[in-house]
Amino acid sequence: NNHFYGQSFLKELDFSAKELNYLIDFAIHLKALKQQHIPHPYLQGKNIALLFEKTSTRTRSSFTVAANDLGANPEFLGKNDIQLGNKESVADTAKVLGSMYDGIEFRGFKQKDVETLAQESGVPVWNGLTDDWHPTQMIADFMTLKEVYGHLQGLTLTYVGDGRNNMANSILVTSAILGVNFKLGAPQHLQPAPTVISQAQALAQTSGAQITITDDPLTAVKDSDALYTDIWISMGETVDPAERIQALLPYQINQDLLNATGKDSTIVMHCLPAYHDKETTIGKQLAEEFGVSELEITNEVFLGQHSHVFQEAENRMHSIKAIMAATLGDLFIPEEFF
Ligand code: CP
Ligand code: NVA
Repeated sequence: NNHFYGQSFLKELDFSAKELNYLIDFAIHLKALKQQHIPHPYLQGKNIALLFEKTSTRTRSSFTVAANDLGANPEFLGKNDIQLGNKESVADTAKVLGSMYDGIEFRGFKQKDVETLAQESGVPVWNGLTDDWHPTQMIADFMTLKEVYGHLQGLTLTYVGDGRNNMANSILVTSAILGVNFKLGAPQHLQPAPTVISQAQALAQTSGAQITITDDPLTAVKDSDALYTDIWISMGETVDPAERIQALLPYQINQDLLNATGKDSTIVMHCLPAYHDKETTIGKQLAEEFGVSELEITNEVFLGQHSHVFQEAENRMHSIKAIMAATLGDLFIPEEFF
């Protein structure tokens, strides 16, 4: 008797507030078990495929460690290792993997591909990020907010920067489902697609969340409990970096923007990876070409006391563990909860 059993985790829109809250609380529980060294082998003997068309540090590591902690065997299949979509259709790969593995993680470009994998494999498929959505990140992020504030209802979350990517879509829709007030600050051409905004607005009617989309960074951050940003150019995007940087510099999370919330308690979040200094090859190149070494967030704020970015990163593992255990584990999660 497990409400989630056999379900895939493809996008937030497929889940209710109760379901998402359950996964957040389950992740908090699993984090405590891990900290107390209490075993939780809910997936003993299962085999998990980890498909990555795009690179990853956190998502790959989270799935790997979580699978091991749950007693399952993870197998990494990178884009150069398998035939997917190249020599073989996604549907054929799905059927084959589904006959061998008990669950499949997919990170890649097209949302359609993760949906096809789920349809054709017959096993739970977890979306580890597509061009459209990053749903496992949402459980970690709202878990982090809950750890900090003790609750989610009534909080105001602001996302600034590239508002037209997977992270912006996911945070907008998840806030709307969960009843978290959400403000997005981005130039008009980098605001979420109208279809995503209207989906979120419809959900907000039910949850009571207030949604604000603006091109004014100061309006966006005012009274906010958490400021969130993401990288300005996402994986697979081909845009002119100079143009993007120029458009988004007013939305950089720096000390001034943090002060503009008017609250001392505001926390700062970022899904990572982040460009906040010259340490990376790309950071160096950007600094040389465009004269800026800090992009979406300054080093001062990134490393400052309001920042919860590494707590969020750790929470990826606990939340991915919760998602896998709930959808594939022999757990008691009664229907009546939902
Ligand atoms: N936040 C996140 O998904 O990180 P990776 O790209 O390193 O997996
Ligand atoms: N928007 C970023 C998120 C990385 C976790 C990207 O897609 O590259």
